[in-house]
Amino acid sequence: MNVLVTGAAGYIGSHTVVELLAAGHTVTGVDDFSLGKRCAAERISAVSGQAVRIVELDLRSTPGVDALLAVGNFDAIIHLAGRKFVGESVDDPVLYFDRNIGTSIPLFRAAQQHGVRKIVFSSSCTVYGNPEHLPVTEESPLAPVTPYGFTKLAIEQLLSDLCVSTPELDVIALRYFNPIGAHPSGLLGEYVDGKPNNLLPYIMKVASGELPYFSLFGDDYDTEDGSCVRDYVHVEDIARGHVAALEALDDGRRGFRAINLGTGTGRSVLEMLEACRNATQHHIPTQVHPRRDGDAKEIFADPQRAAEEIGWKAERTLKEMCQDHWHFTVSATKRGRKKDEAISN
Ligand code: UD1
Repeated sequence: MNVLVTGAAGYIGSHTVVELLAAGHTVTGVDDFSLGKRCAAERISAVSGQAVRIVELDLRSTPGVDALLAVGNFDAIIHLAGRKFVGESVDDPVLYFDRNIGTSIPLFRAAQQHGVRKIVFSSSCTVYGNPEHLPVTEESPLAPVTPYGFTKLAIEQLLSDLCVSTPELDVIALRYFNPIGAHPSGLLGEYVDGKPNNLLPYIMKVASGELPYFSLFGDDYDTEDGSCVRDYVHVEDIARGHVAALEALDDGRRGFRAINLGTGTGRSVLEMLEACRNATQHHIPTQVHPRRDGDAKEIFADPQRAAEEIGWKAERTLKEMCQDHWHFTVSATKRGRKKDEAISN
């Protein structure tokens, strides 16, 4: 297929493009490089042995998006562009409605106008909020508790409505659980400037000595060891999930579907800390802090629908997730920030 990938220079995007190329698809990337890195195209080419183009474009520009789709002749769009920091969304909800929903509208309008019939959308388990029953299935109540979560749900709703108004359209929203890890080459991974918000980037910066200690947000939850439980899944598995979803859109079923991408196994923060100590062979000093506002106590996926409907199952082990994340952290530090920021696409 001829595929447009938005957010192609980002964490999930760059890994997804590698998997798409490996599966024989033709890819055009687009990114505004606000979070995605300019070195992504060169790195993707180095890893995959195939050249890829990442067009610089702000998706809020209706004429720009229209021009891209008018000539692109795309069979499908994988829409990953957006912001994803829960705390930032609470501090600046306008930013999230603008960057997540504001970018989706010109894209979906252009898709309608230029006859793109297949869309894979990057959603999140954050649409479930604080679930009462575990594991979480796609039928679990949708109750986001942050602006970030609301934007994901709003886009899902828009896509679902679009599938009613445009019966030829076939859409899968992938609800990722907690993507971690990196490409084993050490060339692609998640770049985080300053203090990270998410668990693995933070732990790795402590292991590398860049930050002095790890703050454990709450050890008094009603869980086995008192820390929160999440479903961590390797970013390469998530990337393969996009290819599986894309190829399943060809199966003759039409309409909107949501699919969980998780391993089905919950891991506590303390368990992750221990796994990272083993993977890095470094001391990770830890301080217990109060609970973080808005954190769900426990969430993990029921991944059965992914297996049944798109033939996907997470394959990478926890050890691989931590080792690959660490390898990327060390490699990126060695290369130095300047090189990783280089304009090369
Ligand atoms: C949330 C969203 C997820 C989204 C992700 C992106 C939910 C349920 N999940 O993940 O969909 O993709 O944000 O930002 O809404 N922790 C610490 N110390 C730290 C950092 C984290 O103890 O310095 C703990 C948190 O309390 C949490 C766990 O680690 O229990 C994971 O946190 P994080 O990596 O931020 O992801 P989520 O908040 O689960």
